[in-house]
Amino acid sequence: MQIDLSRTLYATPPTSVILISTVDKNDRNNIAPFAWWNVVSKEPPLIAVSIRPSTNTYRIIKNSGEFTIGIPDPELVDIVYGSAQLDREADEFKKLDLTVLPAVKITSPRIKECQVNIECRYKNEIECGDHMLVIGEVVAVEVRDDLIYPEDAVMRHNLKPIAHLTKNIFTTMEGTVLKATVPGSNTKSGKD
Ligand SMILES: Cc1cc2nc3c(=O)[nH]c(=O)nc-3n(C[C@H](O)[C@H](O)[C@H](O)COP(=O)(O)O)c2cc1C
Repeated sequence: MQIDLSRTLYATPPTSVILISTVDKNDRNNIAPFAWWNVVSKEPPLIAVSIRPSTNTYRIIKNSGEFTIGIPDPELVDIVYGSAQLDREADEFKKLDLTVLPAVKITSPRIKECQVNIECRYKNEIECGDHMLVIGEVVAVEVRDDLIYPEDAVMRHNLKPIAHLTKNIFTTMEGTVLKATVPGSNTKSGKD
């Protein structure tokens, strides 16, 4: 059945939600959730996030040139949803009961409660309809110790992301690990 084009989003699999933390020129921290994002380059590592230009996050990034991406787990679902509803608060970390950790390379703080924090410097942006596709170059990545295996790799399947379905409804993204082989070949493991 054909559906209305305005419902295109709902015909695509849900994507994991991130929290973007920024700090404005008055040293006020801002946090908001974003679902339209992805890694778009491996070398250099680049991440693109589709951000509505009317948001504080967009305005602050344009001004500061920096942002930190936190990957929340299912326990943070209320905070994720709540962070979208905040008016411009003096201290959004306090309001959301989150712990500020200084970033390693930039000023936008890390969120202690997140499994992963990715520090980005603004690189460029592309106008995308009613959003701006903001591209950040990754300058530091902090991963919770129990996710590291054996030394420098991340146990990706142990990440516990949450994805947005609609309104205040979210889903976990736990799944079954599938090991693929190339049909008709002996290939046991492939390239990334
Ligand atoms: C789960 C979820 C995902 C969202 N994803 C996006 C997104 O990808 N892009 C966007 O511009 N806004 C998105 N929003 C809306 C922003 O979070 C919302 O406009 C927020 O108030 C922006 O806060 P700020 O003004 O402090 O930046 C999302 C909201 C929720 C609840």
